[in-house]
Amino acid sequence: MQIKDQPGAALGVTVEDFDHTTASDTDIQTLKQTLYTKKIAVLKGQDLSPQEFLALGKRLGRPETYYEPMYKHPEVPEVFVSSNVPENGKQIGVPKTGKFWHADYQFMPDPFGITLIYPRVVPEKNRGTYFIDMGTAYERLPEELKKEVAGTHCRHSVRKYFKIRPHDVYRPISEIIEEVETKTPPVVQPTTITHPMTGETVLYLSEGFTVGIENQDGEPLDEELLKRLFEATGQLDDTFEHRNIHLQSFEKGDLLVWDNRSLIHRARHTTTPEPTVSYRVTVHDERKLYDGMRAA
Ligand SMILES: [Fe+2]
Repeated sequence: MQIKDQPGAALGVTVEDFDHTTASDTDIQTLKQTLYTKKIAVLKGQDLSPQEFLALGKRLGRPETYYEPMYKHPEVPEVFVSSNVPENGKQIGVPKTGKFWHADYQFMPDPFGITLIYPRVVPEKNRGTYFIDMGTAYERLPEELKKEVAGTHCRHSVRKYFKIRPHDVYRPISEIIEEVETKTPPVVQPTTITHPMTGETVLYLSEGFTVGIENQDGEPLDEELLKRLFEATGQLDDTFEHRNIHLQSFEKGDLLVWDNRSLIHRARHTTTPEPTVSYRVTVHDERKLYDGMRAA
């Protein structure tokens, strides 16, 4: 296993000669440590079945199966499928996922620490995923904004981006909204968390999932504060040229692993629809989102 910094990028390493079936426990620890400090690891030259992809994920932690069944791989439910390519005339997984800034499972009470993405059909033109390191983004906040968020909490919900399922057709929208609010009620987390593996302060919010901010007493604060935080961190920049934004490209055979505590991400916009298929496995490592988090 050889780990190298990605040239010209603040984030990310490439990992050559990684084989999950022969990697030693020390290799795995090294890989995870690198992941927490460099945030993204691109495992090169991977040729895996969905079952093998899951086995690789299990070397890094305990898999979390996505709560909505329509995303599941038909044979390996732990594998989440994003696809716009029908197989034998049948839609597998869900198309056009994640085109908004978010951390995976940010709206759930117990988000996992690590996300793995394995692109299977790679688009020609608009390949890549945008990332923002919310540890660095916090550091770069103006001092007065840091002071304003101290001691506050944010409210996260899936409601803005919950995807209507095939069986929702003809259901009243109010009933669907009610179901979303009952099944996945908003969760409240501190606006900044301490990354349990690195000690960094991470601004834990995203334009896609964060729907409110409140003071120490749980009283809602002006929404305008959230907007200023989205703006300052680069999440409202439609040109994607903000200095906090990193575009991670990939080629066939790459498997991306990232730190889901520090990073928020967003699928790249495609102007012309291109065939895209990727598999995702998500795993809990040894720690919660942050130390001292109340049990879910
Ligand atoms: Fe995602």
